[in-house]
Amino acid sequence: MTPHDVDRLDELVDAARDVRELAYAPYSNFSVGAAILAGDRVFAGANVENASYGVAICAERSAVVQMVASGERTIDAVVVVAAGDGGVVSPCGACRQVLAEFGAPDVPVVGEHVDGRRKIWTIGELLPAAFSLSHEADTAR
Ligand code: THU
Repeated sequence: MTPHDVDRLDELVDAARDVRELAYAPYSNFSVGAAILAGDRVFAGANVENASYGVAICAERSAVVQMVASGERTIDAVVVVAAGDGGVVSPCGACRQVLAEFGAPDVPVVGEHVDGRRKIWTIGELLPAAFSLSHEADTAR
């Protein structure tokens, strides 16, 4: 799969770049923006940190919350934008699990560095064998 396969990619990247500017990241100084395509609409979220470091919310989950609160529950594409020395950022483990709750394994996840470097994965690649309650039912049979 290439980034060209992602529906409305430019719009998603712009939304993630714009919302990244609104991130509240005074502790890490690492601003992240995410944009989700769902129901033909774009939902954006930024990371929101706290003096109690552990309760920070990542940009991806911030965008998922916007999506669900707007009545959408099916993710069609995800874009994550960040800067930093480590190159392109991919969603953290907790966010992968949350994306898998609302997105099928073949849903594209685009990581973009502010310098333009870009990588693309699918939710299934990022989190194979995601936890699901239906697995419990499988093993109970
Ligand atoms: N962060 C995200 O927003 N998304 C990720 O996938 C990884 C990390 C945020 C959390 C924290 O505010 C900052 O980046 C540094 O870890």
